[in-house]
Amino acid sequence: MMHIIDLITKKRDGHTLNQEEISFLIHNYTQGKIPDYQMSAFLMATYFNQMTDEEATFLALAMRDSGDSIDLSSIKGIKVDKHSTGGVGDKVTLILGPLLASLGVKFAKMSGRGLGHTGGTIDKLESIPGYQVEIKVEDFIQQVKDIGIAIVGQSGDVAPADKKLYALRDVTATVDVIPLIASSIMSKKLASGADAIVLDVKVGHGAFMKTEEEAVKLAKLMVEIGRLAGKQMTAILTGMDEPLGHKIGNGLEVFEAIETLHGKGPKDLVEVTVEIGAHLLLDAKIESDFKRAKERLNQALKDESAFLKFVELVKAQHGDVSVLYHPESLLSEKVEQVIALSDGYIMDINALDIGKAAMRLGAGRETKEDKVLLDVGVDLHQKIGSKVKKGDVLATLYVRDKGIEEAKELILNAITIGQEHKTLQLIKKTIK
Ligand code: URA
Repeated sequence: MMHIIDLITKKRDGHTLNQEEISFLIHNYTQGKIPDYQMSAFLMATYFNQMTDEEATFLALAMRDSGDSIDLSSIKGIKVDKHSTGGVGDKVTLILGPLLASLGVKFAKMSGRGLGHTGGTIDKLESIPGYQVEIKVEDFIQQVKDIGIAIVGQSGDVAPADKKLYALRDVTATVDVIPLIASSIMSKKLASGADAIVLDVKVGHGAFMKTEEEAVKLAKLMVEIGRLAGKQMTAILTGMDEPLGHKIGNGLEVFEAIETLHGKGPKDLVEVTVEIGAHLLLDAKIESDFKRAKERLNQALKDESAFLKFVELVKAQHGDVSVLYHPESLLSEKVEQVIALSDGYIMDINALDIGKAAMRLGAGRETKEDKVLLDVGVDLHQKIGSKVKKGDVLATLYVRDKGIEEAKELILNAITIGQEHKTLQLIKKTIK
């Protein structure tokens, strides 16, 4: 007979748990048979003593098996998915999905909502009036068969163990533990049913992983977990030293995604989207040459085929497509500006604080129950390396009536103007 106290003791003393023990732990915790205080002790012991790659894999599998797995096997071809570890201004999914689907890739995606300073694809899509994020699994599958793409919220019963555990980690200072993050993310990816997955692991002050060394560790572990579970895996490390693109906030990000789908996107956003897309085009066996894959993706952004696929997606999920042709309606009419106080180059834009500013304006949630405002956010006019003069507009804020002064101050302090002309490397590493 296994006892939870023995498993806590084992982890506390630096030993490793086997698959049966980890399954016992997760199964009984999900069933409510292990109380939060004992699981908290186990999590804290894991914080200090970490887990082996094998233990993290067993944990991911046990959490996957705690709920439903989506069976996508009736959809012909290779199904792909991507995941970002969370950043500021990261609207890649909104562009990548239609872009890949326009080239014949099957994109069956379950996305999340934002929490804290990071946004979530599902909140962003809800800024399109009428867009349905909750769809029955059969309809989700049928839509991918019909038009090659669906982007929906995570169904209630995917990895319930992770849901419960994540909420506990959030309040016990045990979120930032690499094996726990890796198994949490991968449990949901494995349950979502895709064959090939690209992970975009963010590095920098706007991300969970602040250093490249930590990010590589997380990326390698997730790739390993996915591969052991039979998936085709790639991870790329990308910089989150400044927000991705210019716009942060739900409707603002849909606006920027639409511009990008018209071939007029910001360079960094296009670069990350095309890089991930090229890996997935190869994985889906639609293209065999990486360079050629990138060319095809760029072409589909220029010739409107990606945009038209986005229109199809929105229509299929009951959204108001007229908004896609008049995206300015996604933005609040009330604006404020943040002005440069000196001349020089933009040397740093603290993505975390920009994300917080958007949150204070109402674009994000402080608690899970908060409702987000869909038309507020930050439009950054400058990127790191831009030259500015005193009096230039650094950012336009789309606002309602909350958080304006606090957001302005956060943004002003987040942007460092100095004499050094920096250039950033956006795509730092690829891990296969
Ligand atoms: N995202 C997740 O889904 N889980 C984590 O643990 C961290 C980020």
